Amino acid sequence: MTTAGQRKAAGGYLNPGEVARFRREIYRHYGKNGRRLPWRETRDPYATLVSEFMLQQTPVARVLPKYAAFLAAFPDFAALNQAPLVQVLARWQGLGYPRRALALKECAGRVLREYAGRLPEDPAELQKLPGIGPATAGAVCAFAFGRPVAFLETNIRRVFRHFFFSGEAQVPDRELLPLVARTLDRRRVREWYYALMDYGVWLKQSHPAPKGRNRPRQAPYAGSDRQVRGEILRLLLATPGLTLAEVAQALGRELERVRQLAAALQREGFLLCRGQSWCIAGEEGCL
Ligand code: ADE
Repeated sequence: MTTAGQRKAAGGYLNPGEVARFRREIYRHYGKNGRRLPWRETRDPYATLVSEFMLQQTPVARVLPKYAAFLAAFPDFAALNQAPLVQVLARWQGLGYPRRALALKECAGRVLREYAGRLPEDPAELQKLPGIGPATAGAVCAFAFGRPVAFLETNIRRVFRHFFFSGEAQVPDRELLPLVARTLDRRRVREWYYALMDYGVWLKQSHPAPKGRNRPRQAPYAGSDRQVRGEILRLLLATPGLTLAEVAQALGRELERVRQLAAALQREGFLLCRGQSWCIAGEEGCL
């Protein structure tokens, strides 16, 4: 294969032999090690969107036990749109980053109102919806609609860096995307992307980054605002109507910090407060 420098100069060009060799290697691995995952068994746009939201920031192993239960509780856009937020958040527990649950519910409402209940098939149109960026839009287009859209996510990025930019620390997406487009198997879009993702997972397991090379990508969770926000939501899901002093005491957290985080959760649409009592939005009846 040509060097990374030559490839950059050529704007991502690979000759047909290089494309064929790359595809053969990715499919060879997939044939032996491809994962069967429940969201790969459907083409339903709603179910695909749910799985892609869940997989945005949560590993497959933690999504597996939640996916089917979520779909059973909220089988389509209409059910999710109508469901009380408290029930949606309860089904989201364990996945983390509950903003995604709120955005997914908002998506359901927008799809019903603005797209007559049909998820758009165009990536740019999809990205107008809350919580949908280029990766989720590309994945939904590929997996639900079989559309040959070039997109990157963590595992796919790792594959292209490994094969075409090995040894280079940082490669911007704009240099990777032409290669994704060039190598995309347009006859089997779903399988091709599943195969790339599975290859990327295998690369991570088999080629761990040398110690100290990976920058920490996330601030530590313990003691973080994210952790305390999750604690507040879980407590008010279980016990609506508490005052913030009661919340702070139950969690063993500083009252001022709980106040600030609760105010942010209220602004974002998670919480409601009536008088001194707090609950998940939509649960005012409990107060
Ligand atoms: N299959 C479909 N989408 C996936 C994803 N985001 N991660 C892993 N496997 C998938």
